[in-house]
Amino acid sequence: MFRELAHFARHAPATLRLKRRLGQGALYDHLCARQDGLGLATWRAALCGDLRGRVVEIGAGTGLMFAHYPADAAVTAVEPDDGFAAIAGPRRAAAAATIAVARGTAEALPLPDASQDAAVFGLVLCSVGAPAAALAEVRRVVRPGGAVRLLEHVRSPRPVAGALMRAANPLWRALNGQGCNMHRDPLPDLAAAGLTVERVEAFQVYAPGLPAFPLRAIWARVP
Ligand SMILES: C[S@@+](CC[C@H](N)C(=O)[O-])C[C@H]1O[C@@H](n2cnc3c(N)ncnc32)[C@H](O)[C@@H]1O
Repeated sequence: MFRELAHFARHAPATLRLKRRLGQGALYDHLCARQDGLGLATWRAALCGDLRGRVVEIGAGTGLMFAHYPADAAVTAVEPDDGFAAIAGPRRAAAAATIAVARGTAEALPLPDASQDAAVFGLVLCSVGAPAAALAEVRRVVRPGGAVRLLEHVRSPRPVAGALMRAANPLWRALNGQGCNMHRDPLPDLAAAGLTVERVEAFQVYAPGLPAFPLRAIWARVP
């Protein structure tokens, strides 16, 4: 916990200066590219590299997941924020997979029932207004047996660190300005939505400018 706090305190001033210069989308993209370079991209590839057929990526942001889909995936990338989607454009064109960016939200996916072979969340359930509604939508649009993959930061499972994250969440929300919460845990939500969790990997990335939250790569399935 002390290492995480020291990391945050060391980098927060520079990040706040950067936040004043860049827009929200450009700031996120800049910081997350550092995180990708320090190992997160390997987890993105592990989660998406075997997905084929119709895939919905929910909250696609600036398109940092696009490079990791194989050529035979046809991805609908749903994103509500036009600023993020504008940065995703060039990445869409450079990807091996066919990717269409669609405006929409996790809680009301613009897709028919059972129309997708897989769904992907990359650092999204932390900021979705209603995670249970988002997962109910995944159950609706992904066919039975389809894959659900998540890359999420979570509340620490350690009691003191977890309680601190819960207490500090209002301050964190005010700092990040994009509705991100640091005290969520998607696993109970996945179970409540009736999704089968098959594999969970825990890891951390110490990237300059971003908190070293506990991260999870999650492989789940629609029963
Ligand atoms: C931290 S960014 C992650 C972007 C990208 N998925 C990635 O892996 O880098 C969170 C994204 O979730 C999107 N988002 C927030 N609320 C959402 C919602 N209710 N439905 C869909 N996307 C949402 C934001 O606009 C933003 O693009």
